[in-house]
Amino acid sequence: MALITSTEMFKKALEGKYAVGAFNVNNMEIIQGIMDAALQERSPLILQVSAGARKYAKPAYLMKLVEAAMIDTGLDVVLHLDHGESFEVCASCIEDGFSSVMIDASKLPFEENIRETKRVVEYAHARGVVVEAELGTLAGIEDDVNVAAKDALFTDPDQAAEFVERTGVDSLAIAIGTSHGAYKFKGEPRLDYERLEKITTLMPGFPIVLHGASSVPKQFVEACNQYGGNIPGAQGVPEEMLAKAAKMGVAKINIDTDLRLAMTGSIRKVLVEQPEVFDPRTYLKEGRTAIKDMVAHKMRNVLGSSGKLDA
Ligand code: G3H
Ligand code: 13P
Ligand code: ZN
Repeated sequence: MALITSTEMFKKALEGKYAVGAFNVNNMEIIQGIMDAALQERSPLILQVSAGARKYAKPAYLMKLVEAAMIDTGLDVVLHLDHGESFEVCASCIEDGFSSVMIDASKLPFEENIRETKRVVEYAHARGVVVEAELGTLAGIEDDVNVAAKDALFTDPDQAAEFVERTGVDSLAIAIGTSHGAYKFKGEPRLDYERLEKITTLMPGFPIVLHGASSVPKQFVEACNQYGGNIPGAQGVPEEMLAKAAKMGVAKINIDTDLRLAMTGSIRKVLVEQPEVFDPRTYLKEGRTAIKDMVAHKMRNVLGSSGKLDA
């Protein structure tokens, strides 16, 4: 087993009309839960690390935890930097041994996004590392933002094709209706499939990425709140909608919030129902199992990646 890039993984996913899940990791239990699910489901996967996760767990710990996970399961892993905000962060992760990085310059104007992305692509490709970039704006979209304003934030298909052509990037995150976090938009969730189709028609076989793809299932928010939580989760894009996108040329789907909700709910339950517990293993074990169950569910019912490892 080894750290691998996502190139072959995405090719197979696009051919097989499914998506690979990219799950955010911050500590040992999360890594173990995700890896155990992948092993059980025989599913490809990507472990991704944010700048916040690197700060929390420290880079050396994360590298060793991922190495241990590969030894324990015998699985190959794509280790990806999530939302790298500068060339320097990307270079630092490449130095650490990451096999994939994201340069997220989506807040910058188009030409500057191209310039930043191209710089990272040249550096990464010279070192055998693949690069994801982002074009468009994912936001917590509120009720009172009208459709025209919403669409202005979405990724323009022609610009996407030009961006990929000019940067040489390996995958592209687009905005078609998803948003980050538990505080998703109010109102009717919607994925702009027409826009997605335009993008994939302009770039056949090119891996598209969806961020903000947690659905924030009501029962998981309630499971947290039932035990004293106060999480005001609004509805995310329903899982059926994401499952449809996974068949339409989306190769990578990012999920973090749903794992956080599952883990926190299960830990809260132990601490409230068994107030005598003070051994961290007792509740962290439940958190780890909740992560495993959530990831296995996503692989089976949303991504369609179960059983594809050996396909
Ligand atoms: O999209 C961001 C991920 O959910 C990571 O979040 O920056 O709090 O680690 P974080
Ligand atoms: P969620 O907050 O919807 O889980 O999105 C995670 C993500 O996009 C990480 O980059
Ligand atoms: Zn994201």
